[in-house]
Amino acid sequence: AAIEKGGFDHFMLKEIFEQPDTIFDSLRGRLDEQRGMITMRGVEEYMQKFIDAQRIIMVACGTSWHAALTAEYMFEELCRIPVEVEYASEFRYRNPVIHPGNMVMAISQSGETADTLVAIEEAKKAGAIIFGICNVVGSSIARASHAGAYTHAGPEIGVASTKAFTAQLAVLCMIALKVGYEKGTLSRERFLHVLHELALVPEKVKEILQQHENIKAIAEKYASARDFLYLGRGYNFPVALEGALKLKEISYIHAEGYPAAEMKHGPIALVDEQLPVLFVATRDRFHEKIVSNIQEIKARRGRVIAVITEGDEVVPHMADDVIAVPAADEMVAPILNVIPLQLLAYYIGVARGYDVDKPRNLAKSVTVE
Ligand code: G6P
Repeated sequence: AAIEKGGFDHFMLKEIFEQPDTIFDSLRGRLDEQRGMITMRGVEEYMQKFIDAQRIIMVACGTSWHAALTAEYMFEELCRIPVEVEYASEFRYRNPVIHPGNMVMAISQSGETADTLVAIEEAKKAGAIIFGICNVVGSSIARASHAGAYTHAGPEIGVASTKAFTAQLAVLCMIALKVGYEKGTLSRERFLHVLHELALVPEKVKEILQQHENIKAIAEKYASARDFLYLGRGYNFPVALEGALKLKEISYIHAEGYPAAEMKHGPIALVDEQLPVLFVATRDRFHEKIVSNIQEIKARRGRVIAVITEGDEVVPHMADDVIAVPAADEMVAPILNVIPLQLLAYYIGVARGYDVDKPRNLAKSVTVE
């Protein structure tokens, strides 16, 4: 087992550190910066269906659902197609409205999650086109789909998903870029810019991983917290949800993710000097807004940990602790910003003495409903 873990204490840590390579593998053979193009056969075959689609419905569970939520922002922005993000378990039982020609994208690491599988089978009966995004080649969801794209993150052993998530984001971003460009809702200039930003991601992830000692020290400082709040806006909102999920899964600390502006409608009532609030506050079009959200928390004596963009000179004066990540376009930023949150959850779980590879009550894939 020690050999399988490649010298790491846990599979989860190994998989977190593999991400520069796994993200590269997701992009490889698809993203061609030199020629300014993306090649994805499954998408090309169904391009006209994407272009004609009146709506896209995304179905997934768990971490994959967070990838779907991020993709909603990408597809609406780049392709101008309305997107609905559904928990597969809710979608399958409520007799959803599906019209022939609707696109249903199923996102699943294992390709075996029972709720997601049944959801697409139902949608197929209603005439939807199923596009699967799976990590496991030949899995049930991959086989039940009309077309799809694999994430190519390699086998994921850790129960808490890490590298599969970043691979999903990379693949979803490429699809949104490709469809948006073909559809004409995205300029060549923006297409090339995001393409370039995506190509830079693996190197930037490497840089973030080099900060593991800093993140571990922060983790140890907050390891005894009872609750945690994670906040973000825009593309960083799903990142906040995913950070909170990671913490719950492996440290058993109650954690909630929220849109930062929505906190004043509830969670702010919980803020006191005991509560750590993690802000995903990298520089994007919402930056000023999130800075004022941080002020609101500090005014109530909450403890603030912030993921910021390198060179940010404002937030470090307000936050108790900061983790800086390289600057990136906001659309690819989630791939980077989730990395420190994965490490934070990991080190908190370890500091609390838990076996993070075998979190209680959780299964790697849930093949029963
Ligand atoms: C389980 C796993 C999660 C995963 C979810 C969906 O709950 O513990 O890590 O995100 O299933 O799995 P899938 O394989 O469909 O992505």
